[in-house]
Amino acid sequence: MLAVFTFERKRSMARLTDSLPLASGSVLPNRLGKAAMEESLADAGQQPGARLLHLYRTWASGGAGLLITGNVMVDARAMTGPAGVVLDSSSDIAPFRRWAQVAKSGGGMAWMQINHPGRLVYADLPGVRWSPSEVPVALGKQSHRFARPTPMTAEDIRSVIGMHADTAQRAEEAGFDGVEVHAAHGYLLAQFLSPLVNRRTDEWGGSLENRGRLLLEVVRKVRAAVSPGFAVAVKLNSADFQRGGFDQHDAARVLQMLGPLGVDLVELSGGSAESPAMQGRTADDRTMAREAYFLALAEELVRAAPMPLMLTGGITRKATAERVLESGVAVVGLGSALALRPSLPQGWLGDEGLDVVVPHVQWKDKALTAAAQMAIIRYSLRRLAAGRRPRPRVPPLFALAHDRRHRRRALSRYAAWLDRRPRMQPAEPGATPVEASAAWGAGSR
Ligand SMILES: Cc1cc2nc3c(=O)[nH]c(=O)nc-3n(C[C@H](O)[C@H](O)[C@H](O)COP(=O)(O)O)c2cc1C
Repeated sequence: MLAVFTFERKRSMARLTDSLPLASGSVLPNRLGKAAMEESLADAGQQPGARLLHLYRTWASGGAGLLITGNVMVDARAMTGPAGVVLDSSSDIAPFRRWAQVAKSGGGMAWMQINHPGRLVYADLPGVRWSPSEVPVALGKQSHRFARPTPMTAEDIRSVIGMHADTAQRAEEAGFDGVEVHAAHGYLLAQFLSPLVNRRTDEWGGSLENRGRLLLEVVRKVRAAVSPGFAVAVKLNSADFQRGGFDQHDAARVLQMLGPLGVDLVELSGGSAESPAMQGRTADDRTMAREAYFLALAEELVRAAPMPLMLTGGITRKATAERVLESGVAVVGLGSALALRPSLPQGWLGDEGLDVVVPHVQWKDKALTAAAQMAIIRYSLRRLAAGRRPRPRVPPLFALAHDRRHRRRALSRYAAWLDRRPRMQPAEPGATPVEASAAWGAGSR
């Protein structure tokens, strides 16, 4: 009780320059965190290479106390995009060691975000589309971009738990300071949490306890696979912003369920491909705040959370960042702002209040708008990775076309690579999740 009380007092007084000690023992040097942004910059073999190293060296010297990588895939057959990074039991660890080293070179902590996209795998990508139930992605005219998903068997579920544990263990081997388990934005773990996508009637579906079981099992196995001093975090939606979907009451209960599992930090976000609240737009017609989209929900959730929270989404001004800390949130998460100005933390931690203007695309087609918004940011990430300056005012259509050209090239390379990887050996009956996932690790289709 006393520990909770002490934590409450500390967080109400936090400033951006304050350090933050975490339960596993590591200390964030300040309260600014770079949120995960899938860079789509993997080199051959879906590994980090020179471009990612350059990008992370730039961010490391920008002053954020925490850098969370873009999502790294735990399963080579299930990718959020063809230029994504994969880390599994058969990956070469050397490129990941170099990545961890540059990400830590500025004195901040470096965490790897680990993810399985579940049903959110584009129809033109090879591999598997796993989901709790056979509920397709609903994106209006753009729905055809995702194929019908395959409901997971109990064995698939056990193997996916093992894959997360393997990737976390390898992230530690590479020298990262922690991992963030991605359970937000409509990816696999969020699909299980969602009553709209998860229609299962077994122990993995139904009540929130059952829908949350996969996330909890993943966190337990990840925690057990890494050292006690290695940080384990979770990215969770404050709400999915869909009628009948995962809401803030569910989020509060999940935070409490995660409490006893040794989670260092939970990053709050919101939305999914179907309801892109993380870009400030929702499918359930809720009016989002123009800045710090999820702050009102976070203020409620801070009271329920037994661990420090990070809040990400729509933060571009120092005054907003300070308001976020005043609410009791422990870490301010920055995505787009750091793609457009990587040195922003240095300015905010000093006396400089320089803010960033993130352009917002406003087209009729919601799915296309979301894609263009991402393309604008990715355009600047590619420029930064090539040693050039970001270009926030790139025309959205130009950014989209650029994105698609890169994607096409990456897709043929990824498909050829996946094809060359050894096929899956079915796990022995009764194998532990980690053994089962090792059998899956060699990217089968
Ligand atoms: C290009 C791009 C890629 C992203 N990739 C990821 C990702 O890999 N994992 C994740 O959790 N969120 C991802 N996001 C979402 C961000 O982490 C963040 O939640 C969102 O952009 C809202 O924050 P912001 O307004 O500061 O950008 C991505 C966002 C962008 C723009």
